Amino acid sequence: MVKPLVAGNWKMNGSRIFAEELVGGVLADLSRSVCADIALCPPSIYLPQVCQILTSGNNSIVRLGAQNVGAQDEGAYTGEISPGMLAEFDCHYVLVGHSERRALFGETNQQIADKFQAVQRHKMVPILCIGESLEQREAGITFEVLAEQLAPLFQLPDEVWKQAVIAYEPVWAIGTGKTATPEQAQEVHSWLRDTLRGQVNEIADNVQLLYGGSVKPDNAKLLFAQQDINGFLVGGASLNLQDFLAICRVAD
Ligand code: PGA
Repeated sequence: MVKPLVAGNWKMNGSRIFAEELVGGVLADLSRSVCADIALCPPSIYLPQVCQILTSGNNSIVRLGAQNVGAQDEGAYTGEISPGMLAEFDCHYVLVGHSERRALFGETNQQIADKFQAVQRHKMVPILCIGESLEQREAGITFEVLAEQLAPLFQLPDEVWKQAVIAYEPVWAIGTGKTATPEQAQEVHSWLRDTLRGQVNEIADNVQLLYGGSVKPDNAKLLFAQQDINGFLVGGASLNLQDFLAICRVAD
């Protein structure tokens, strides 16, 4: 069985006080052993603070994740943060290719593949986000779009999938309150598993496949019951301690 993972993506939300309270609350609640992997992805400026809370809290459950990364290791890239810098602050995961990065910042499939590799060069785990827009779904080209988003990654050696997570996030479900039905999500996740199997054989069976897009405590259970859904990437609900904990418990 694939180990579940629940990752909270705070996006550009929070503050020092918020980070302290939320991370403290998560640690206090999840201090018992949990079966799922749990990750928190705060804005990069709070990574050192959250890193410090996690390491001082005698925590072995909650891991740190970043929301974005530069593709280069160093140099004249004003405003960027290198993968080595994230690794220095104990980041375990890095989101790459979130739909907001694709849509608002023009990130291409190739740039995302470069970031994916940069993350792995520094021994961190990329969480590759993919997903179709509403127009693409309605045009019946969901799988073509996803295949295109995956294509540059499938040029890489099979081994990269030993340390990688995929989050399927239909763009029309992100922040809209419109979750994919469990059947819609499972249809894509099972396609993803089959596609991965076609590329990398049995390595595919251990890749954590997350669903993201308006995951809430009340829809998480049915989604998680689907065979190929191994956890969640949670946006809005990860900003509310009780909601985030409730979703973590579903995946536990
Ligand atoms: P949401 O965001 O849960 O607020 O829909 C998910 C995401 O963008 O990762």
